[in-house]
Formats: sequence, structure tokens, C-alpha cells
Amino acid sequence: MNQQELKKLVGQAALKYVKEGEILGVGTGSTVDCFIDALKVSGMKIPACVSSSERSTQKLLSYGFKVLDLNEVERIGVYVDGADEIDSNFAMIKGGGGALTREKIVAMVSDRFVCIADASKKVDVLGKFPLPIEVIPMAVRAVSREIEKLGGKPVLRDFTTDNGNKILDVHGWSIENPIQWEEHLNQIVGVVTVGLFAKRGADVLLLGTENGVKTFSA
Ligand code: A5P
Repeated sequence: MNQQELKKLVGQAALKYVKEGEILGVGTGSTVDCFIDALKVSGMKIPACVSSSERSTQKLLSYGFKVLDLNEVERIGVYVDGADEIDSNFAMIKGGGGALTREKIVAMVSDRFVCIADASKKVDVLGKFPLPIEVIPMAVRAVSREIEKLGGKPVLRDFTTDNGNKILDVHGWSIENPIQWEEHLNQIVGVVTVGLFAKRGADVLLLGTENGVKTFSA
């Protein structure tokens, strides 16, 4: 099976965690696109979704799903999203698609985070995938200098987030203690969000492998 087939497999598998009649949190990325496709085909009755990006919002609306602003919703039962890397404690690097800030907000108000990923995303130590950090535009150089002091190599992405900010992709870190790194990096003035999801990691991992979907629970 190729990577795209594995993404479809886990997108389909995530339907098991979706509860009809409940508001659903929907993440961003190519794996989530497969999940949205599967959701549409399933015909499940979802009163509304809360989306973590304009990209997912447009896709959901095009399929006829209702999308609510998070300010209209208090709690979300299940949030389905992908990851760029995930370790054995279910800490993740996210933000390869640039939606990390909204993803972290929706994850925060969700009772259950279901991570869907193909097998290539599972790692022992986070950091091979460059860590995305969303930054206020005027702070790009200042934050870059702080990151360099910590041994990271920040690369400015040619991209503007849904929130009007910039992204630094940081190379060269091996992240053994993701909770501490998340806390530390979030303290740098000018950082909006660091793409480490460790304090609030995933609760369930659906991993697409050659032998089918493997389910891991926190
Ligand atoms: C979006 O900003 C990201 O956090 C995605 O969830 C992550 O990059 C996974 O994307 P793919 O499913 O496209 O690999």
C-alpha cells in the first residue's frame, strides 16, 4: 500500500469514533481530507463541525456540512486530526500544513483527540520533521535569534497563516522532553504557537500500516 492508501485507511477507521448527533472537531491536512471524504460517504448525521482551518472549512461546506465558529461551542466530544510526527507518549509535531494554532485551540476544548496517521509518522524521538512555530510577523527575526541561541536552525516559510502570521520551520532539534520544550518555546515573546502538541497530546492513535490499522490508546 502506498502512503495515500494508508491515509485513506485511517481516515475511514476514524469514523468509528465519530458520534452521530454530536458536534465534531475536524483538523487539517491530507489525512484529514481522507477522513472528510469518508465522513461524506458514510452519510453520518453530524449537526455541525468546528474546523481548524479555512482549507478544511471549505471542504466541509462543499460537502454540505455545517461549520460553526468555536465561539458558538463550549465543548467538543471528538477531534480528528493528523500529525507530522507522533511519539510513543502521543506527543506530536504538527503544523506542516500551517494550521497549528487553530488546531491547538480546537484540541484544547475537545474531550478526545483521535490522531490519524500513516506509519511513516511514528517516531521514537520528535524533531526530524522541522518544528513549525507560528510567529507574529514583526517578531520573525527576533524569535529566530532566540531559536538560534537554543541550537535550532529556523527557516522562514513562504506562507501566511489563517491568522495573518508567519511560520518558522526549525531544523536540528532532537526533542526528548516535548512538554518542557513546548512550555519553554511558548514563552518566547512573539511566538503565537509552537507546533509541539505534548501537554495536550493525542488520546487515540490510528496508525495505517501494511498490516492494516493499528489502534493505540493513551
Ligand atoms: C496541519 O497544520 C498539520 O498539523 C497536519 O495535521 C499535519 O501536517 C499532517 O498533515 P498530513 O495529513 O497532510 O500529513
